[in-house]
Amino acid sequence: MKVLVTGGAGFIGSHLCEALHHEGYQVFALDNLSTGRQENLPPTLPLYQIDLRDQDALNDFFEKNSFDVIFHLAAQVDVRTSVDSPLTDAEINVLGTLNLISAASRQKPWIIFASTGGAIYGEKVSLPITEDACPQPEAPYGIAKLAGELYGSRLMKLYGGAWTTLRLANVYGPRQNPFGEAGVVAIFTYRMLQRSIPHIYGDGLQTRDFVYVEDVVRAFLSVLKHPDTTQGETYNVGTSQQTSVLALYQTIAEAVGFPHPPKHLPPKPGELRHNALSYQKLHQATKWSPQVSLSQGVRQTVTYFRQLQKS
Ligand SMILES: NC(=O)c1ccc[n+]([C@@H]2O[C@H](COP(=O)([O-])OP(=O)(O)OC[C@H]3O[C@@H](n4cnc5c(N)ncnc54)[C@H](O)[C@@H]3O)[C@@H](O)[C@H]2O)c1
Repeated sequence: MKVLVTGGAGFIGSHLCEALHHEGYQVFALDNLSTGRQENLPPTLPLYQIDLRDQDALNDFFEKNSFDVIFHLAAQVDVRTSVDSPLTDAEINVLGTLNLISAASRQKPWIIFASTGGAIYGEKVSLPITEDACPQPEAPYGIAKLAGELYGSRLMKLYGGAWTTLRLANVYGPRQNPFGEAGVVAIFTYRMLQRSIPHIYGDGLQTRDFVYVEDVVRAFLSVLKHPDTTQGETYNVGTSQQTSVLALYQTIAEAVGFPHPPKHLPPKPGELRHNALSYQKLHQATKWSPQVSLSQGVRQTVTYFRQLQKS
């Protein structure tokens, strides 16, 4: 089976490419290398450097190559950038997704889309959040991802292909960018290894659902292996558990051996207070459940960043 991973050179995409390759799929990656890196991928894995905004390049690519399944992960992923420049965000996350659908539609592929749970649902009273909760995105990033979900699911049905949406929680693990605005595990780990005190915005009691990248990759694979039940559906990929940013800080500090308390800064306006995603629907469909505990995942992430510092 031939599969394409857009955003394949990125954090989650590169882990997905590796796992698919390992399982014997014929894997191709497409990426503009804006945040992704060629070194994230095995040297033998074909990587096409194409920007989703370039409709001609995409048309040309799909005229020469065909795929059974497309994992669509390429995106502008920075919430702050989406607020500062909503047009750029929409050009990549809405129009780029439409360009991909339009270029690939003649092949009637199955597109499995990486969406977001944190940014789409908004603040909810009842946690963990299930897929039937009403989306209330605050930032342009969440709005654009929701638009991608809606366009994709409706258009792929019309065109005779298939679409599945995975709404990911806060993913962490090796290769996450420690310099961005997102990716608190990578940011804290990197700073602690540099012996510099990380900042926490607000009291640190805000909670998030941290899911390890290997578990997320297994979720994508579990969907791929159950087309009859998962095509046309939307699933959360999270742990159902809330972890406070302060508890996360302590877990990382313990793994690194960092003795200092965090520096607290004023809370960021508009930041979600609590978030956790129920994974029951995906579990019922594919038996998927998260396997890696936070302390285990954090230890593996710390080991990765430690080795990176030495090299
Ligand atoms: N990391 C998380 O916690 C998280 C949570 C929810 C959803 N997601 C989604 O998962 C996907 C992967 O995110 P990630 O964390 O691996 O981020 P990432 O930045 O590492 O990966 C995104 C990839 O897309 C590529 N890309 C960006 N713009 C492009 C364009 N115009 N054309 C072609 N390629 C382009 C980048 O070079 C990068 O390799 C994204 O769709 C993101 O929205 C991530």
